Amino acid sequence: MKAEKDIFGERFARHYDELKWLYMELYNDETRFGELCGNLRGIFDARKESLKALDARREADPEWFRGSGLLGMMMYVGQFAGNLKGVAEHLDYVKACGVNYLHLMPLMESPAGKSDGGYAVADFRKVQKELGTVEDLEELADRCHGQGISLCLDFVMNHTSEDHEWARRARAGEKEYQDRYFFYDSWEIPMQFEKTVPQVFPTTAPGNFTWLPDVGKHVMTSFYPYQWDLNYANPVVFNEMVYNYLFLANLGIDVIRLDAVPYIWKELGTTCRNLPQVHTLVRMMRMIGEVVCPGTLLLGEVVMEPVKVAPYFGTVEKPECHMLYNVTTMATVWHTVATQDVRLLRKQLDAVYSLPQEYTFLNYLRCHDDIGWGLDYDTLAEWGMQQVPHKQFLNDFFTGRLEDSPSRGELYNNDPITRDARFCGTTASMCGVEKAGFCGDEHGMERAVRLDVMLHAFILFQAGIPVIYSGDEVGQVNDYTYKDDPEKRLDSRYIHRGAFQWNLVKNIDRSGTVQETLFHALRRLETLREEHEAFGVHAKAATGENGDDGVLILRRTGEKETLVGIFNFSRERKEIPWTENGTDLLSGDHIGSDGKVWLRPYDFVWGILDPDRSGAEEEASVLSGKSKTE
Ligand code: GLC
Repeated sequence: MKAEKDIFGERFARHYDELKWLYMELYNDETRFGELCGNLRGIFDARKESLKALDARREADPEWFRGSGLLGMMMYVGQFAGNLKGVAEHLDYVKACGVNYLHLMPLMESPAGKSDGGYAVADFRKVQKELGTVEDLEELADRCHGQGISLCLDFVMNHTSEDHEWARRARAGEKEYQDRYFFYDSWEIPMQFEKTVPQVFPTTAPGNFTWLPDVGKHVMTSFYPYQWDLNYANPVVFNEMVYNYLFLANLGIDVIRLDAVPYIWKELGTTCRNLPQVHTLVRMMRMIGEVVCPGTLLLGEVVMEPVKVAPYFGTVEKPECHMLYNVTTMATVWHTVATQDVRLLRKQLDAVYSLPQEYTFLNYLRCHDDIGWGLDYDTLAEWGMQQVPHKQFLNDFFTGRLEDSPSRGELYNNDPITRDARFCGTTASMCGVEKAGFCGDEHGMERAVRLDVMLHAFILFQAGIPVIYSGDEVGQVNDYTYKDDPEKRLDSRYIHRGAFQWNLVKNIDRSGTVQETLFHALRRLETLREEHEAFGVHAKAATGENGDDGVLILRRTGEKETLVGIFNFSRERKEIPWTENGTDLLSGDHIGSDGKVWLRPYDFVWGILDPDRSGAEEEASVLSGKSKTE
């Protein structure tokens, strides 16, 4: 009999030295390392053959997630379809949206009333009762795979719920479990931490520690008081959390979203954000994934300023996350809508386009969280926009307090002392659909939908994975009912986490409705994106300038074609000088022959240049921006 190839052994051998080196550097604990390695083999052996086959296919095509063919959507299981079985039944709608990457918001067991939208996990291996069972989840993953859909799930690794078994045993006084968190007898050390650690939720959950009167100790809680930070300096925590991560992978989850990953290592005298040990931990998780489940991807949730984000990709030789959120571009897009000034967005894109092509971003307009206005304030200051008043302007604009603003939404964590606040609302409400609908303003509605489509066109013009927030494809507006729910009332993020409005879906094929316009416009763009190779990561992406700061000009040069995107972020009609010959991808009209392109307010053009001009970007053209490899 031919000996079976030891795939695990081969992969393990490839990473063993580095893995051991990093583990020992952090923990210096041979016993725990041995235990980890032994368990990895067991977890690999338990992995289903179908998933091992998927691993092999993806290993053979490591670029599988980097083309222009992936389209993501994120959704709450309960809000979309009641439970996991409901999602399985509605996969036809997901497919109709063109989606082949589905991010299901946290669904593991989480105590009602103290759940932080599912981000306070009480059991990493049990699904919330009302959403179904682990078996339902596994079945859904199988079904998704059968239909070519990859599934993404959160792995909330920074903390557990105070209801998690470890937390309960810690609370009951078991030292072994207290050591898995940060417990302190007195205020002395917490007080030192408070001197250097900023607050995540300054108004809804001030401070980074919670006093537990029944235990007589303080526990570290960077987020809500019921979310206890895990202590990754303890190797037991790392090992056990690795097993939990691999549990998800073995259910068939394709993309593991590492929630709040910059926070996972704490050190006195620091901000406890993005510390070098965080990168060691993520690198170890990446190697472990490559050994046990190489078809699975790590998606880092790094909501930080740009210089802090890119390091989470690691290096080309020693990669960490496969993908990261393009959070700064997202926030900068909304800043651009409010200011009608594309300069910062152009600068931000130049920075993104200069990164190595291996770096894959998730591009999005809205997600389940607030918008934190993490902008490049040094640059804005050079242009006369100071941080505090500018944030206030943005919040005034998007809450609809300014006269020329069509937006509706609410502040989040509004701090009256620092006057700092973030913002919540759906894409459609921010674009003006809610206001125009309320006022019966037909012209306003037309404009709002045009802005909504243009912003999606901008996102879809970027490489990486575009992710639609469920409901945005049908222009779903803010949901104010969270205010009636005592458990949600203080967290305005629920304004954009409303129940999916299936009645809007009915309008998709009703002529003249907002849903018809929006849904089909997005589908058209998504299909074009899929068809054109220059939307992939290997195309050269560049920004251009034509002296008008209301208009953003982008260019993507692939092997076979050059695409141009012209986006009018201003509320005025624009005449853009344009001499390059090409074709408007949407209308099929010729562009360039009369030396200009006309754009209505918030309109855009996606064009393909005539083949003889492709790649000739050094020629005299209106594009004078830097050309970079994305
Ligand atoms: C992430 C989530 C957010 C949650 C936090 C704490 O930032 O996106 O919704 O509140 O982590 O888990």
